[in-house]
Amino acid sequence: MVLEQTGTPLTLTLTPEHEMLLNTVRDFAQKEIVPIAEHYDHSGDFPMETIKKMAEMGLMGIEVPEEYGGAGMDVLAYVLALVEIAKADASHSTIMSVNNSLYCNGIMLFGTEEQKRRWVTPVASGEKIGAYSLTEPMSGSDAATMASRAVLNEAGTHYIINGRKSWVTSGPVADYVVLFTMTDPEKGSKGVSAFLIDTSQPGFHRGKKEPKLGIRASATSELIFEDYACPVENMLGKRGEGFKIAMTVLDAGRIGIAAQALGIAEAAYEASVRYARERQAFGGPIGQFQMIQQKIADMKTRIEASRHLIYNACLAKMRAKVTGERYTLEASMAKLFASETAQFVTDEAVQIHGGMGYSKEMPVERYYRDARITRIYEGTSEIQRMVIARHELGMR
Ligand code: CAA
Repeated sequence: MVLEQTGTPLTLTLTPEHEMLLNTVRDFAQKEIVPIAEHYDHSGDFPMETIKKMAEMGLMGIEVPEEYGGAGMDVLAYVLALVEIAKADASHSTIMSVNNSLYCNGIMLFGTEEQKRRWVTPVASGEKIGAYSLTEPMSGSDAATMASRAVLNEAGTHYIINGRKSWVTSGPVADYVVLFTMTDPEKGSKGVSAFLIDTSQPGFHRGKKEPKLGIRASATSELIFEDYACPVENMLGKRGEGFKIAMTVLDAGRIGIAAQALGIAEAAYEASVRYARERQAFGGPIGQFQMIQQKIADMKTRIEASRHLIYNACLAKMRAKVTGERYTLEASMAKLFASETAQFVTDEAVQIHGGMGYSKEMPVERYYRDARITRIYEGTSEIQRMVIARHELGMR
């Protein structure tokens, strides 16, 4: 990304590297993911083969420096690539976003040098799959009220972890997990700590796989910990710092979900424009009717507004690298607006397609189902509104 200080506002320009990445990912997504998306949506299988190919292209750790197995690019590169993948298939983009923003990003920000080498390098390079585990059956939006526990053993060498986590993206296949659990329950949010979990170790079990409405190829499951002994050196950050880590990482994650929502909306919009030009009714293409035109105009305008809010969040994240300030507000606004736009656009796309929009013979039905989760995960629309309002009212 190029940040030009022209007068006061910072402007955002695509570099030749961004252009090249965009074209390469677009080409890959259209040729390799579009043809298989329907199959994986139907089967619900994890698309390991294409995820491995994405890893070879550097897409599983875009912002991770090359020395840790990543592509060494910036947040704009991440967003550009994620939009193209989501446009082809939302499930692939979910897997990619969690690997990048929630897993690698957290360890790069809060990990020690040794932790970055051991836990990021194999995941950013695509050899292993990473996951992020915050939610529990009774702790979703109110993320600090978790029931799982990590207790330091008498020798002071291991934390013994017990409890049940839920709704973990890539849970059924993850090799490594950034886990948030309580070490000091009496301290509330300041009693949460973060741990790096190797899922091949005893005491780790995968629970039921969620049967989902959309993003069906992105496997989601419970994780169960039964006396899992986590070495003390695998704590991420300091004891009690876990909630801050979880929230900081979610700020980055929400830009990713906004980009995913934009990609789904663009796919639905482009399908609708094609259909409105081709479908004949009352002696001409349906695009000649003002009621269809109004839909097209509103869809396009909201899509472009989403893109600007996402780019605004990218700029804020870039600035944060220099200033150390938070970009919570910008990330929440982007996620809120883009996810509600994806819902609006995919709904209108189904309407424009009529009966064909309701049929599994056209992909708009899948876009409609896939869009729905973007208003729920990584903070519901209600939570985003709460975050934005608290910021504006000075109540955070
Ligand atoms: N960055 C850094 N620190 C933050 C922060 C942020 N974005 N947000 C809050 N904090 C800090 C606060 O500053 C505060 O620290 P101090 O006490 O030192 O001041 C501390 O965290 C507690 O903050 P709050 O009092 O605001 O906490 P709260 O309990 O009221 O909750 C919340 C705030 C915004 C509602 C938060 O709980 C939240 O975001 N909930 C939604 C959780 C969520 O998004 N879950 C999705 C999980 S991932 C997923 O979807 C699955 C997947 O695999 C994709």
